[in-house]
Amino acid sequence: MRAVIIGGTGHVGTYLVPRLVETGYQVICVSRNTRQPYQQHPAWKKVSFETLDRTQLESQGLFGRAILNLSPDVVIDMICFQEQSARMLVEALQGKIHHLLHCGTMWVHGHSVEVPTEESQPRNPFGDYGIQKAAIEAYLLEQARKHGFPASILHPGHIVGVGWNPVNPAGNLNMEVFRKLATGEELLLPNLGMETLHHVHADDVAGGFMQALKYWNQSVGESFHILSTKALTMRGYAQAMASWFGQQANLRFIPWQEWKEGVSAEDARITWDHLAHSANGSIEKARHLLHYQPRYTSLQAIQEALQWIRNQGKL
Ligand SMILES: NC(=O)c1ccc[n+]([C@@H]2O[C@H](COP(=O)([O-])OP(=O)(O)OC[C@H]3O[C@@H](n4cnc5c(N)ncnc54)[C@H](OP(=O)(O)O)[C@@H]3O)[C@@H](O)[C@H]2O)c1
Repeated sequence: MRAVIIGGTGHVGTYLVPRLVETGYQVICVSRNTRQPYQQHPAWKKVSFETLDRTQLESQGLFGRAILNLSPDVVIDMICFQEQSARMLVEALQGKIHHLLHCGTMWVHGHSVEVPTEESQPRNPFGDYGIQKAAIEAYLLEQARKHGFPASILHPGHIVGVGWNPVNPAGNLNMEVFRKLATGEELLLPNLGMETLHHVHADDVAGGFMQALKYWNQSVGESFHILSTKALTMRGYAQAMASWFGQQANLRFIPWQEWKEGVSAEDARITWDHLAHSANGSIEKARHLLHYQPRYTSLQAIQEALQWIRNQGKL
């Protein structure tokens, strides 16, 4: 079986491509070839690389045809952010492939009503990214259910892995937050620290994609959350990390308006997105239908990533 992965050298592809190769897929990795995977693995020697710029080819209406020309049985789309992009791919691949797996996001849910959020809940997305991802999901599910297009959608949470910074207990990517927890310095958190973050190890995301391929008849026409077993409150996350560093957390809680004045505009923007979404999803559907079982808890995934950062002398 030939698997074409669009955007295969990123966070998820780093773990997914070796898994595909080891399972026996002939893997073709599509990217602009501007970066390498976060970790090397012998399996990459068996991968064919295809240098394509999706944005450029889409503007010429040629991207779908370019993917079809790679003769895929399976297409894994890691970098689809607009409904129009999904349409172009589906129109080119209809009737020609065995399976399309689309990488979505928990942010299709926007504001949840009940938590842990289940896939069946009505979508209330906000922000361009979440709104577009929800539109893609709705389009692909309609294509699958009405027209038999073999699409599955997988929604990861905050992806963690070795080689990049995890979303921290203040809901942004600033390593200063972890440094304060590691040294026992006071850390200011917005509100009461009871909003939630839902991380997932990139290797568990890769595992979810593999399970969706394996259980094709259960996964086609469906979307699944691919997460660690449980979300973290920001306060609980901060306390657990301080203790991992051998410290007592020294936390102080202040109102959002005051908190955001004390950080950069970029940190405030990223934190606000995480607070407002407060991801907290259920993985029961993936467990039941795909036999998905994450190997890492949220804290284990984060601690593995931080241990690597520490070993690099960057914390
Ligand atoms: N990060 C998170 O926490 C998170 C959470 C939930 C969902 N997601 C979803 O995860 C997906 C992204 O996966 P990821 O984080 O593994 O990817 P990533 O780390 O952002 O890597 C992107 C990949 O796409 C390639 N790429 C980027 N622009 C391209 C273009 N114009 N044409 C061809 N290739 C291109 C990159 O290689 P080159 O640069 O060399 O082209 C790379 O292989 C998205 O669908 C996102 O919505 C992410």
